[in-house]
Amino acid sequence: MERQELRDLLLKEAWKGRENSYSPYSNYKVGAAVMGIDGKIYRGCNIENTSYGLSNCAERTAMFNMVSNGCQTFTGIAIVGGEHIGAVPCGACRQVMTEFCESLDTPVYVSGKDGEILESSVREMLPHPFLKDNLTA
Ligand code: THU
Repeated sequence: MERQELRDLLLKEAWKGRENSYSPYSNYKVGAAVMGIDGKIYRGCNIENTSYGLSNCAERTAMFNMVSNGCQTFTGIAIVGGEHIGAVPCGACRQVMTEFCESLDTPVYVSGKDGEILESSVREMLPHPFLKDNLTA
């Protein structure tokens, strides 16, 4: 699949994922979608909790959805919400992306209601990541 085609598909799927957002505390709906290396799309949404700190971001929900369905690698991710390039991934999600991305050059797309798209990569999102290789004692 061409890069642009993947981008448009992931963004469309991320908006669908956003429809399931459970965000009664922030009222900020976020959706995400990853393309698994198995060729399947996995969606996610943010899921909040009355104990606010337990909330899970849409990106991590999408990645955990992928892993829990037996796929451990994604080749692209899109995140949508807010107005102008709203739902830029938080630090925790950037770290989780480094764990499951195909490579640090894997594309990351962020967009909001105005339709503008930020095109980035996992490497650009998290320079100098803490990787498996760093775990040598
Ligand atoms: N949130 C995400 O799901 N992804 C992001 O990239 C930014 C923030 C969620 C967490 C919380 O449910 C709400 O947005 C407001 O912070």
